[in-house]
Amino acid sequence: MEVVILEDPRAVGELVASAVVDLLRRRPDAVLGLTTGSSPLPTYRSLVRRHQRGEVSFGRSRAFLLDDYVGLPPGHPESYPAFIERELVRHVDFAPGAVRAPDVHADDLPAACAAYEEALRAAGGVDLQLLGIGTDGHIAFNEPGSSLGSRTRVKTLSTRTREDNARFFGSVDAVPRQVLTQGVATVLEASHLVLIATGTSKVDAIAAAVEGPVTAMCPSSALQLHPHVTAVLDEEAAAGLTLAPYYRETWAQKPPWQAL
Ligand code: GLP
Repeated sequence: MEVVILEDPRAVGELVASAVVDLLRRRPDAVLGLTTGSSPLPTYRSLVRRHQRGEVSFGRSRAFLLDDYVGLPPGHPESYPAFIERELVRHVDFAPGAVRAPDVHADDLPAACAAYEEALRAAGGVDLQLLGIGTDGHIAFNEPGSSLGSRTRVKTLSTRTREDNARFFGSVDAVPRQVLTQGVATVLEASHLVLIATGTSKVDAIAAAVEGPVTAMCPSSALQLHPHVTAVLDEEAAAGLTLAPYYRETWAQKPPWQAL
């Protein structure tokens, strides 16, 4: 895993946005994996600015969300399709219908999960997957205890995650209990995974994900099994990493020809 430690969330957003832009210039029809939450917001703001300056088009690309809440009414502002529409999609030039999410309104949720897996396969898989991390070490909504071989499915949120996400809903009671989420194994099928983490609340989760044992108790630790992962962190999120001096030295001496 490549670990890049930068000064602040703005620098993290700029670097991650550059990786997306470089990919779309190389492969305009690339498949993006998008994440939600507050961690990717500086990235999305940078992508919008770069699109407005004419530096990047999303017009031929497609995108898949990692997860969504079950039980919110369609169009609820905290549903993840509404989030991504507000923060990215409406400001850039994706084709209509190019950004998909698991169908949390389906009568048959397991069938909707299978259909989502099939849609990912039919698209040829995700080229670049953006990821955040929960304070409990989750990726997408794969809570501790999730099988490292899991696929897209219904999942119940932990109390900790519902408490963390209460800030978006006003109270913890308003946070849905169930979600549809890509599984750990689904996420690991993307060609390149870019993990974004900023702020002190992520320090333990990042230490466990990057340097801890690979365990279902910390689903993000499964990223250690993937051949191409870039963790882009700010100083605060990186504060618990034993090998931080090595990561900094490696980044400072990275040859200019070597992309993320
Ligand atoms: C939610 C999402 C995750 C995200 C996490 C972190 O739980 N399902 O994909 O990584 O939040 O959110 P934040 O970036 O707001 O801390």
